[in-house]
Amino acid sequence: MRIHYRLAGPQDAIVIGVLARRVTRRWILPDQPASAAPPLLLGMSARVIRKKILAGQRFHLAWCDDGRLVGVAAMREDSHLFQFFVTTRMHGHGIAHRLWQRAMLDAVRRAGTRRFTLNASAMAVPVYLHFGFVPSGPLKVSGTGLVVQPMHLDLP
Ligand SMILES: CC(C)(COP(=O)(O)OP(=O)(O)OC[C@H]1O[C@@H](n2cnc3c(N)ncnc32)[C@H](O)[C@@H]1OP(=O)(O)O)[C@@H](O)C(=O)NCCC(=O)NCCS
Repeated sequence: MRIHYRLAGPQDAIVIGVLARRVTRRWILPDQPASAAPPLLLGMSARVIRKKILAGQRFHLAWCDDGRLVGVAAMREDSHLFQFFVTTRMHGHGIAHRLWQRAMLDAVRRAGTRRFTLNASAMAVPVYLHFGFVPSGPLKVSGTGLVVQPMHLDLP
């Protein structure tokens, strides 16, 4: 099976939302308080994602050659990774690695970025550590109760 990578356009917002919400329900929400779910899922609605794409936020996509979307990495302000999901049955095949490389190099090329930030889910912390990110401080709890690990990466 071959994987193709490209940048999203507004027409991709519906499938991105479906993937993001499905993976979030499976891997992120079980570790979070119930109050955190509605606002988190709302930010993954097609309407919100379309708006973000139209505002210039960069959604890097991974597609299977059968036409299924299998991964997304979204970068805001060429420095903050804010949505990073791979479909469950394709975990462990290097798709997140490729998406991160593409999103990172795109931001470096566009803006000369040297520092990247993100708020990690518990399950993704080991993957980000493997990419070279380090914790920026203690766990952070948002107003809705969402618990995340802020992390950053400084390029040499
Ligand atoms: C986190 C996630 C995107 C990773 O996707 P993936 O495609 O399975 O990741 P990859 O196969 O590309 O693995 C990335 C690298 O991390 C390494 N890795 C994976 N799990 C690891 C672990 N537990 N400990 C150390 N390294 C690990 C892999 O070996 C791989 O190394 P490489 O880049 O040298 O090959 C995926 O598990 C996911 O969608 N999780 C649920 C949603 C989520 O939590 N997203 C993050 C939101 S902040």
